[in-house]
Amino acid sequence: MRRFLLLYATQRGQAKAIAEEISEKAVTYGFSADLYCISESDKYDLKTETAPLVMVVSTTGNGDPPDTARKFVKAIQDKTLPPDFLAHLRYGLLGLGDSEYTYFCNGGKVIDKRLQELGAQRFYNTGHADDCVGLELVVEPWINGLWAALEKHFLLNRGREDTSETLTMASHASQRTDPLKPELLHVESQVGLLRLDDSRGKAAEVLEQNAVNSSQSSTLIADFEASLTCSVPPLSQASLNIPALPLEYLEVHLEEALGQEESHASVSSVDPVFHVPISKAVQLTTNDAIKTTLLIELDVSKTDFSYQPGDAFNVICPNSDSEVQFLLQRLQLADRREHRVAVMIKADTRKKGAALPEHVPERCSLHFLLTWCLEIRAVPKKAFLRALADHTGDSAERRRLQELCSRQGAADYARFVRDAGACLSDLLRAFPSCQPPLGLLLEHLPKLQPRPYSCASSSLFHPGKLHFIFNIVEFLSNTTEVVLRRGVCTGWLATLVESILQPYTCANHADGKKALAPKISISPRTTNSFHLPNDPSVPIIMVGPGAGVAPFIGFLQHREKLQERHPGGRFGATWLFFGCRHKERDYLFRDELRHFLKCGVLTHLEVSFSRDAAVGEEEGPAKYVQDSLQHHSKQVAGVLLQESGYIYVCGDAKNMAKDVHDALVEIISRETGVEKLEAMKTLATLKEEKRYLQDIW
Ligand SMILES: Cc1cc2nc3c(=O)[nH]c(=O)nc-3n(C[C@H](O)[C@H](O)[C@H](O)COP(=O)(O)OP(=O)(O)OC[C@H]3O[C@@H](n4cnc5c(N)ncnc54)[C@H](O)[C@@H]3O)c2cc1C
Ligand SMILES: Cc1cc2nc3c(=O)[nH]c(=O)nc-3n(C[C@H](O)[C@H](O)[C@H](O)COP(=O)(O)O)c2cc1C
Repeated sequence: MRRFLLLYATQRGQAKAIAEEISEKAVTYGFSADLYCISESDKYDLKTETAPLVMVVSTTGNGDPPDTARKFVKAIQDKTLPPDFLAHLRYGLLGLGDSEYTYFCNGGKVIDKRLQELGAQRFYNTGHADDCVGLELVVEPWINGLWAALEKHFLLNRGREDTSETLTMASHASQRTDPLKPELLHVESQVGLLRLDDSRGKAAEVLEQNAVNSSQSSTLIADFEASLTCSVPPLSQASLNIPALPLEYLEVHLEEALGQEESHASVSSVDPVFHVPISKAVQLTTNDAIKTTLLIELDVSKTDFSYQPGDAFNVICPNSDSEVQFLLQRLQLADRREHRVAVMIKADTRKKGAALPEHVPERCSLHFLLTWCLEIRAVPKKAFLRALADHTGDSAERRRLQELCSRQGAADYARFVRDAGACLSDLLRAFPSCQPPLGLLLEHLPKLQPRPYSCASSSLFHPGKLHFIFNIVEFLSNTTEVVLRRGVCTGWLATLVESILQPYTCANHADGKKALAPKISISPRTTNSFHLPNDPSVPIIMVGPGAGVAPFIGFLQHREKLQERHPGGRFGATWLFFGCRHKERDYLFRDELRHFLKCGVLTHLEVSFSRDAAVGEEEGPAKYVQDSLQHHSKQVAGVLLQESGYIYVCGDAKNMAKDVHDALVEIISRETGVEKLEAMKTLATLKEEKRYLQDIW
């Protein structure tokens, strides 16, 4: 069999799942993949690798490669490596990302670029899959095209060293598909991480395409009422290309409980887990605000948990009890909810490298497994639909599930499953005769991820306490029936603190309702560089609309204590650009900010209200933080370019961070009289120097 090396670099498992799919399909095409996580560096050696390399690499943080790839990236970035170090290597790379982030697919791009610099050559075009519009739009054609590229590679290399034909093909092809405009290529190498490719435009194009498709199909809906459960011609009459049935590999037994209770600490986590009481909960917004923002205070005094303002931490959260109950009922396992789940690899499985899922703790109860370990809200992938089809008794329902995972049904999958945010429960509701075994859920549902939150306090100001704030996520789901759903974590937290919740107006005067103090589990996150400058005389600009203000409250509390301790000390200017919808409804921390302003900890407070017509005392005509920055163009440029100041941006990654980025480019360009590209380079330098810091989600 023709062998290739298949490496994946994943943060949350998607790259791994895609690599596994490639590995499974390879056999059908007469190839065999040696599949490894990129961190398993003892299992492969690129220096001596003669087989082609296929990589699937996601992006995390702010354009960073996944944690599992850190060692790899560090190793290939060794400046002492000669430019022909990997000249023998032929590779194909699939990057995963989300074009809503500034540095689209940057994890993959960094590796791709460095492999090229070390002489490695592509045997197949790089793909950049976008989670924002659906990874499968790129992943599926990329995988489909991989086999021909491998075929050609092996053909050309049969019995000879010369691969020039392949290389010509690859480099032509890469020119065709590389999103970078050729004239900008040289700039990219200088600008480094800066976003120059128009990934946003590309995403918009795909979205537009989708919009066209969906407007076409909405005509169809009006005529024929296509839905999650029902297809219309031509799909309903088409012969289907459906994916191969994923190989089942887990065997699950349920055993009578022995009576031990598992703790949340048994939820798999590499970091230490702290079980801490909630000591206070405050509603920061009024009841008529569009979004509800809550503050939770945790008592960490009896733990070793420590943090600096600017850090974030993880909240370990469960799935909603009613959703878990529904699944138990639907799987006909309600009476066995306390049974222990024993999982093992099927003795006769044909799945290569089958391994027990790391996120399933040993012998936990069924109820615990569904509540704390599996992301039951995850949008089912096509492979899952394919597997579900084989456990569906009714032939019409089975056909519809097959359609949804078929090549011909791609648009319906995008519309009724992915874009609708359908989850397993929605499918089980929609397809009543579908009765999957528990093992299938373990094979296909990803790990329930803890949710990160930024610390919104300083331990100097609130010793032994940790504050964080969040918007309660709410959205309408209408896959089978229209229901209001809440985010997994924020919905759970909101319910948990209901009985102790205080309105903002009373919160600073009372010491928290002492009713009951529910406990939650948290874990620290590896430290980042989103911290105050070591030198307090350096001026800082903080940009944090909405819940993005969280870390800056911590910064300002910290500064207040430092200023109290060092009354004669030199403290630089502190600017805060805050934004919300309405002054009277969601102006978070209004009293605290006024206090910081009054005592001089905050030297400039600029607040923009996007939905208020009236102009009040603190706000200018700016609608959004980026407008407000533009209004202070001179001062902003002065702080960053003359006074060696810092700029911090926190909050919404989807729009705000990009708009702020663009505003900064304009400001630098205007104030220094340089072209936009030059301004982008200046901003990239600030980023490299860690003076332009983002904490965006
Ligand atoms: C480093 C970091 C720091 C962060 N700090 C903060 C912070 O300080 N404050 C804060 O509020 N958040 C913060 N976040 C975001 C936070 O971690 C969570 O992502 C957020 O609170 C939502 O979690 P959830 O479980 O309630 O929502 P989830 O259940 O995970 O839902 C996530 C999103 O998907 C959407 N969604 C899900 N299903 C559907 C569907 N069927 N239809 C339509 N939409 C759907 C929801 O609208 C929601 O936006 C941070 C994130 C990171 C990475
Ligand atoms: C916290 C977080 C940060 C992310 N940062 C980026 C980013 O900077 N650039 C990007 O293109 N995609 C980013 N993404 C999107 C992921 O790369 C994308 O969803 C990918 O499919 C995840 O694959 P994985 O599960 O293998 O890690 C981010 C996703 C998360 C959850």
